[in-house]
Amino acid sequence: RTIRMDVARYRPGQDAEPVFQGYDVPLMSDWAVLDGLNYIKDQLDGSLSYRWSCRMGVCGSCGMTVNGEARLTCGTFLTEYGEGPVRIEPLKGFPVIRDLVVDIDDFLAKLSSVRPWLIREGEDLPLTAEYAQTPEQLEAYKQYSMCINCLLCYSACPVYVLDPDFLGPAAIALAQRYNLDSRDMGDRFDVLSQDDAVWGCTFVGECTRVCPKHVDPAEAIQRYKLTAALRSVLPWSKR
Ligand code: FES
Repeated sequence: RTIRMDVARYRPGQDAEPVFQGYDVPLMSDWAVLDGLNYIKDQLDGSLSYRWSCRMGVCGSCGMTVNGEARLTCGTFLTEYGEGPVRIEPLKGFPVIRDLVVDIDDFLAKLSSVRPWLIREGEDLPLTAEYAQTPEQLEAYKQYSMCINCLLCYSACPVYVLDPDFLGPAAIALAQRYNLDSRDMGDRFDVLSQDDAVWGCTFVGECTRVCPKHVDPAEAIQRYKLTAALRSVLPWSKR
């Protein structure tokens, strides 16, 4: 048995617009969409471009639009689509570099703007210093630390698709990952409280629905709205 995969092909600057190219690939019960793409690349058409690395839902590089939905292609089985066809497109909301590869520079700049690392201030401790944490303190931010930067949340977010200045779900969730960490002393209010940051979110919730790691960015954003509102009346309140 085979299944038809209709794959978007596009070389910006050379092609007038994306076109779909159809390929028949073996329909194996244990094949993910990514396995189908790898079959095409290895056996049918070596010119196809797409990203992947770990093949186990960890690296976050294989996100694409599968039959209209933002999915990790290594975690989406071909058998989910019955007799097919399966339509593969790049993630929505990002410029296409080639075929299924998108430009993620915008996200990387936004991510770095929230300073996604532990900030310690006024200290001169050796690099080997330990910062003990209780299980409860770990639990406070653990959910947000599961983000793998796959960008499915941005692709599914109607705000980001309409307003590219929106800081976006993953960057805000990762800011909260550090805001809620008992070891962090940073203050990300200046970035997070902008109109294009948490206040830009209209709480549609698509980011949470498509997240393969159950990070729940929508919850992170609503939670920081509360923090930001509190901060406006209690300026010394940080979390
Ligand atoms: Fe790494 Fe899919 S290949 S998450």
